[in-house]
Amino acid sequence: MSATLAPIGARVRHFVSLADLSPDELERLLADAMTLKRLPIPADAPLGAKSLAMIFEKPSLRTRVSFEMAMVQLGGHAIYLSPAEVGLGRRESVADVARVVSRYVDAVVLRTFAHETTEEFARSSSVPVINGLSDLSHPCQGLADILTIREKKGQAPDVTVAYIGDGNNVCHSVMLAVALAGQTLRVATPEGFEPQKRFRDTAANIARRTGATIDLGDDPRRAVTGADVVYTDVWTSMGQEQEYERRRRAFQGYRLDGALLALAARDAIVMHDLPAHRGEEITDDVIDGPQSAVFDQAENRLHAQKALLRWLLGDAR
Ligand code: CP
Ligand code: NVA
Repeated sequence: MSATLAPIGARVRHFVSLADLSPDELERLLADAMTLKRLPIPADAPLGAKSLAMIFEKPSLRTRVSFEMAMVQLGGHAIYLSPAEVGLGRRESVADVARVVSRYVDAVVLRTFAHETTEEFARSSSVPVINGLSDLSHPCQGLADILTIREKKGQAPDVTVAYIGDGNNVCHSVMLAVALAGQTLRVATPEGFEPQKRFRDTAANIARRTGATIDLGDDPRRAVTGADVVYTDVWTSMGQEQEYERRRRAFQGYRLDGALLALAARDAIVMHDLPAHRGEEITDDVIDGPQSAVFDQAENRLHAQKALLRWLLGDAR
């Protein structure tokens, strides 16, 4: 894996990390996503005759369905290839799959275990590659999250997001997204589950340009106190099932329940990328409660990805 999160290739524009976007590009994508949310089916079918392959090594509801519907609504076509079908790096080398698929379609969404697989694919692909989640990052989620925060809380630098739980793929992308948006993030993770250094460094570099504040710690109460947005994700991600018991013990005290949420601003919203492990990282009363923005957030995957597809494949760049 590359030591930095710099864009992978100059030849083709990929979306492997949120660091592939400049703050201005993020703003243009958000504006287009809001337009597409008001007018979901543009009359001019901006992606007419364009096609998208979706190669997934892990299960998915939101990412798969929202990308497929995004292509339908923009006039294009999507092809889903399940974990059983392609055998990335097993039946065939990652580079060969990338070279072949690039001859058939206009863009590829990849959902992989190893982030290196997505980076390797992007290096050999002659069409844009979109990271639909890897073990290290989930930039499409981060994009939809910033759209949700923008809609619910606006653009002010002092809008404060608290992320509680595992310093995982979603945490990494929330860090980069909030850094690009120039807002404030407080992360609380238990010892041994902190976000990785390269994401901390990249977020800090972006924050220096945008004026964002990224604060890392291990105290969930301190992170949540006064926050405008309280975000959490599962303690055991896909592929980590054998660590379930160890993680469940390590994350005690990080559950987003009514008592923790009560420390946030009175009008704070609750976010979770889903799927949720209800009763573990978040309680039913919180995810189903009046402050929950979780299902609006899930809907925003569709609108944000339509803007992303139009940017990568259409003439919206
Ligand atoms: N949030 C998210 O990416 O959901 P899926 O795993 O269902 O795609
Ligand atoms: N961290 C979770 C996110 C799922 C969308 C996982 O990787 O399983």
